Amino acid sequence: MKKLIIIAITALTLAAPVAFSAGGDKIYPNDHANINLADKESLQNGAKLFINYCAGCHSMQYVRYSRIAQDLDLSEEQVMENLVLGDKKFGDTLKKSMNPKLAKKWFGVDPLDLSLVARVRGNDWLYNYMTSFYKDDSRPFGVNNTVFPDVGMPHILGDLQGEQVLSEEWVAAETAISEAKKIVADQQADKQVKAAAEKRMHEAEAIKEELSHDGKIFVQISKGSMTPEEYKHNMRDLVAFMAYTANPVKLQSKSMGIWAILFLVLLLIPAYFMKKEFWKDVH
Ligand code: HEC
Repeated sequence: MKKLIIIAITALTLAAPVAFSAGGDKIYPNDHANINLADKESLQNGAKLFINYCAGCHSMQYVRYSRIAQDLDLSEEQVMENLVLGDKKFGDTLKKSMNPKLAKKWFGVDPLDLSLVARVRGNDWLYNYMTSFYKDDSRPFGVNNTVFPDVGMPHILGDLQGEQVLSEEWVAAETAISEAKKIVADQQADKQVKAAAEKRMHEAEAIKEELSHDGKIFVQISKGSMTPEEYKHNMRDLVAFMAYTANPVKLQSKSMGIWAILFLVLLLIPAYFMKKEFWKDVH
């Protein structure tokens, strides 16, 4: 019994960080990133997007250009020509070009290192974050984000995606929720009134869920250089690249897994004949 309890406690402690990394809170939208780590072209495109649009502000201190070349089937020349900007070397890590002090002054925070972000936030979170910037003139950079409310990052890919705003239905549901929340929190409010507010809150939550499933959180108001489909596709690639940097051995472990299984299947044949041989005199 004692043993069982110890095992249970150990399992729980080990599971805790996993539960944390899964994100916890509900996010809207909550679409699947559907990345494919075996698709080298997707990873290469993701690397290119990252270097061109993100590496100015975000570093990847655990990732070297040379390792990217090796893992993504690129030659040194290809990497030096397409991925390495400025005076950096093939063996360097992905440092950001922005000075941390200036960044803090401009954004209020120093944009964090993204090597491991996919492990902390999860692939789906990242994908939805990159697709959920919307126009909000009350914010310093004119944009907000449903997945990361009051985000301090500008919409770097706004030119590619185009501009979107929150749909009227979405805003109505959010307003209903915040008004109902006030009533529920009000100490003086009547019990029945509170119960009614709580009901309205649940109804509005259900509407949000539905709108989110139907892709009706946002309305596009201006076109970007990419179609919505192209943009989503590119965000999948970008997330795939971040998923790879967060766990580079995954690429290898996958291909090694296939060999291991193949070996076991082949081993089955002599094992079968050996069994036959050993048991042939036993009746
Ligand atoms: C102009 C500078 C800048 C650029 C370029 C930029 N970011 Fe950011 N990013 C920020 C800042 C600032 C924050 C911090 C936001 C906050 O905490 O409110 C941030 C936050 C993030 C976060 C959230 C991290 C977390 O877990 O809290 C992610 C993910 C992210 N950026 C991804 C990207 C990607 C991907 C790109 C390229 C497409 C990119 N960023 C380009 C400035 C930038």
